Amino acid sequence: MTMTKLCAIRDVPEGEVRQVDLGDGRVLAVYHMDGAFYATDDLCTHGDASLSEGEIEDGRILCPYHLGSFDIRTGEPVAAPCSVAIRTYRVETVGEDVLLAD
Ligand code: FES
Repeated sequence: MTMTKLCAIRDVPEGEVRQVDLGDGRVLAVYHMDGAFYATDDLCTHGDASLSEGEIEDGRILCPYHLGSFDIRTGEPVAAPCSVAIRTYRVETVGEDVLLAD
């Protein structure tokens, strides 16, 4: 398993989401929600929208373009027009850092 630093814990305040470009073609959205961190692909599966520019609401990320939404923990679509899941990633916090475990 590889651990890749996504950001520092302090970079993503509770209830917010940030874009993290890993520089290898992967661009993720990193969420801080209910005291834990989560990561998904940043690109909406419905169109060319950055989910990190959306709002977190009740465990879901609302896409800024057409207001479809996904469950942040599972990536499953929960509101139209989104119908294809976004990929989720395993995240761990170690010390001051948020790490991607893959
Ligand atoms: Fe995300 Fe349409 S681009 S809901």
